[in-house]
Amino acid sequence: MSTRNSKRLGLGPWALGLLLLSSVLTAQSAQKPDRRVVRVSAERFAFTPSEITVAVGEEIELRVKSDDTSHGFRIVGTETDVAIPKRGQGETVVVFKAPAAGKFEFECSRMCGAGHSYMRGVIVAKESK
Ligand code: CUA
Repeated sequence: MSTRNSKRLGLGPWALGLLLLSSVLTAQSAQKPDRRVVRVSAERFAFTPSEITVAVGEEIELRVKSDDTSHGFRIVGTETDVAIPKRGQGETVVVFKAPAAGKFEFECSRMCGAGHSYMRGVIVAKESK
């Protein structure tokens, strides 16, 4: 009986669709970004903003892009040291969470010209109340 066969086959894709739908929903809730996004631009020879205030334990997402040549972004005393591609080539995302109150200096870590060593900034972490 061909009718019965096609009905049985029809169940397959339907069940598969449900499975796919549930995995898509799981992925969405897992990726839901709760953290604050801070856009930083790098340009000879400064970062803007050059001072960023966070709460201790707050996870922030720094999106660093260049307005001219390529630069680097290093947070002193941490593992973070990434390249910032030149203007128009995208941005680099750095996730940072201050473990304690204090100042976390960041600086350019790729030679970009005479004022390279002046490219600095600071993340100020304060106790949240
Ligand atoms: Cu910018 Cu070195």
